[in-house]
Amino acid sequence: MAPLGHYPGTSAGPGTGLDPSAAQALAALVVNVADAVYAVDHAGRVLYANPAALAILGYEEHELLGRLSHATIHHTRPDGTPFPEAECPLLRPRTTGEIIRVEEDWFIRHDGTHVPVSYSSAPVPGPDGPAAVVVFRDTTALRAAQTQVREAAAEQAAERARAEELRASRARIVAATLQERRRLGRDLHDGAQQHLVNVSIALQLAAAASPEPDTAALIAHALDETQLAIADLRELAAGLLPSVLVHRGLRGAIETLTARAPLPVSLELIDERFDPQLEAAAYFFVAEALTNVAKHSGATAASVRLARESDELLAEVADDGRGGADPLRGTGLRGLGDRLAALDGTLEIDRPGGGGTRLRARLPARPPEQRPITPAAA
Ligand SMILES: Nc1ncnc2c1ncn2[C@@H]1O[C@H](COP(=O)(O)OP(=O)(O)OP(=O)(O)O)[C@@H](O)[C@H]1O
Ligand SMILES: [Mg+2]
Repeated sequence: MAPLGHYPGTSAGPGTGLDPSAAQALAALVVNVADAVYAVDHAGRVLYANPAALAILGYEEHELLGRLSHATIHHTRPDGTPFPEAECPLLRPRTTGEIIRVEEDWFIRHDGTHVPVSYSSAPVPGPDGPAAVVVFRDTTALRAAQTQVREAAAEQAAERARAEELRASRARIVAATLQERRRLGRDLHDGAQQHLVNVSIALQLAAAASPEPDTAALIAHALDETQLAIADLRELAAGLLPSVLVHRGLRGAIETLTARAPLPVSLELIDERFDPQLEAAAYFFVAEALTNVAKHSGATAASVRLARESDELLAEVADDGRGGADPLRGTGLRGLGDRLAALDGTLEIDRPGGGGTRLRARLPARPPEQRPITPAAA
C-alpha cells in the first residue's frame, strides 16, 4: 500500500516515505491522469483532489481541501432525500481496509447539481491513520449512450411487436373471412337451397296433377326457373368454399375448376394436403388467375402448376395471352396479394419474354390441422 504523499499543487500530506523520484513520478501521474482522483484522511476530510476531480465537481482546490467529503459531495440523493454517511460505502476502506467499487452512484457538484459517477475507493495510510483514495469517472456520457441503446432496443422490440400484431391481425381477418364463407355457404345450402328444392318438388307434383295444358306449361316454366335458381345457388356456395376443396384438397378442386374453363388448361398438380387456410388461399389464387385469363388475356391456352418447393407451396398460373396484368387496375390481384401476405405468402407477377402472363403464389407450407373444416355445401 503506497502511503498518501504530498502532491504538487496541494497542501496535503506529510512526507511520502518513497524514493523522491518515484514520489515525483507518482505525483505527476496522479495530476495528469484522465480519471478523477481524490483522497480523504481518517476523519473523512478531503486531503487531495486532482484537476480532473476538481473539474467534475466544480470546485477550486482551496474550496474543497479540508472539507468533510460526505457532507460536501455525497450528502443527498438525486431524489432530494438525505443520504446518511452510515449507509455510504465510499469512505469505508478507511475503517475496513477493503477496496470498494461502485458502478452507479452520484456526487454533488459545487452548484448543487448531481453528477452520475462510477468509482473505486481503496485504503491508504494517511497522516493521522488509515485514509482512502477514491478514483472516479463522470458517467453522464456513458449513461446517455446506455439510455440510447436501451431506447433503440425498446423501439426495435416495439416495432417487432407491431409487425407481429399486424401479421396476426391479418391472419385473423383471413381466418374470419374463411369462417364467414363457410357460414354463408351453409346458410345457402340449408336455407334458400332447401326451400327451392321443396318448391321444385311441389311444382313437379302440381305439373303431374294439372290436366290443363296452359297451366302445365306455366308450371314447367316455373320449374325450369327454380332449377336454374338452385344451380345458381350451388355455384354461389361453391365459389364461397367449394366442398371438393375440403374433401379432396387442391388437386381435386383445381381439376373440377379447370374442367369448366373456356380454354384448354394443362395441369401439373401434387396430391399433398395442407392447412385449410392455405388450401383456400391457393385455390382462390388459381380461380382468380384463371378468371383473369378468360376475361383479359385473349390466350389460347393456360397452365396451372402446384409444387412443393422445400418449405413452400408454389402455385403458378400461366397463359399465352396479351399480357399486362396490373394490380392497380382492379381489385382481384390486390385482394390475392393481401390474402397471401396474411399467410406470410407472396404474389409474383411475371411477364415472360415470349408474351403472356405468369402469376406465382408462394406460401409457407403448413400441414393440415387435425380438425377438418366443414364444406360450404355438400
Ligand atoms: N392474365 C392476364 N392477361 C392480361 N391482362 C391481365 C391478366 N390478368 C390481369 N390482367 C389485367 O390486370 C388488371 C387487374 O386485374 P385484377 O384481377 O386485379 O382486376 P380485374 O380482373 O379487372 O377486376 P376484378 O377486381 O373483378 O378482379 C385487369 O383489369 C387486366 O387489365
Ligand atoms: Mg380479376
